[in-house]
Amino acid sequence: MQNVIRFGDNLPILQAMPPESAGLIYIDPPFNTKKVQSRTQIRTMRSENGDRTGFQGQRYATEKVGSKAFADDFDDYLGFLRPRLLEAHRILAQHGTLYLHLDYREVHYAKILLDEIFGRECFLNEVIWAYDYGGRPKNRWPPKHDNILVFVKDPEHYTFNYEEIERIPYMAPGLVGPEKAARGKTPTDTWWHTIVPTNGKEKTGYPTQKPLGILKRIAEASSRPNDVVLDFFAGSGTTGEACRLLGRRFVLIDNNPEALQVMARRFDGVPDIEWIGFDPGPFQNASLTRQASLLLGA
Ligand SMILES: C[S@@+](CC[C@H](N)C(=O)[O-])C[C@H]1O[C@@H](n2cnc3c(N)ncnc32)[C@H](O)[C@@H]1O
Repeated sequence: MQNVIRFGDNLPILQAMPPESAGLIYIDPPFNTKKVQSRTQIRTMRSENGDRTGFQGQRYATEKVGSKAFADDFDDYLGFLRPRLLEAHRILAQHGTLYLHLDYREVHYAKILLDEIFGRECFLNEVIWAYDYGGRPKNRWPPKHDNILVFVKDPEHYTFNYEEIERIPYMAPGLVGPEKAARGKTPTDTWWHTIVPTNGKEKTGYPTQKPLGILKRIAEASSRPNDVVLDFFAGSGTTGEACRLLGRRFVLIDNNPEALQVMARRFDGVPDIEWIGFDPGPFQNASLTRQASLLLGA
């Protein structure tokens, strides 16, 4: 099977998928923030009358070049998640693992729901992804972490590739000796990781894009080389990108055309992707170059 990227509501698509066909499922659904999640892209140009000051006092003008958004407000959030999580459980292979990425708003309710669907004995971890970015309210502890619930289908036989997990530096390398310090240590259930840098190469412009480092760690630890990795709230396609780098096959689903456009650009030139319900061509370089040469009469 090749990789698949599909446009559409994930529920009917999941219902049509074969049982036990994915070795790893990672999902990062809307968090029910009660807001529209949006990101505006700007372009800056050198201009004497510009509204921003940059390096060495140069003035720059900013121009809005687009924005991407999806709604994140649910009256019955668990009613939305439940049928999708039931399908996830059915689709998960016997050795498979589900990662459900949420934040403090819904994680406790989701834990109880997953206990019910998977069984409490199938709960493996709650991973805390901690970061330090954004505003700091002064009337409470600034919330700076996400919660990732990890459930396995079979607590006796599941994939956990301990030896393949990328090691991280010791906080106090002087205390462990040079050999251990050089090897680094395996991460715990608390992951310090920066958010996607706002002007780095990794950034796609899609709101709530998750860092590749987080997804690589998940896929490294919890999937086998022949597994299909499923993400049915795919957004900018971070899970697919991690799978591509690690040589895993992926199935990505999203119902927002803007997510599909971002994925079209992100996977431009990547072979072996079947696009279903969406034509990536108009958003990819080959087609843009063709259009430009037609315009130029070449
Ligand atoms: C938090 S974002 C995922 C971000 C992604 N992890 C990334 O790194 O870019 C959630 C995504 O779920 C999608 N979504 C929401 N409801 C959906 C549904 N019923 N079917 C498919 N996708 C859905 C939204 O369009 C949005 O792109």
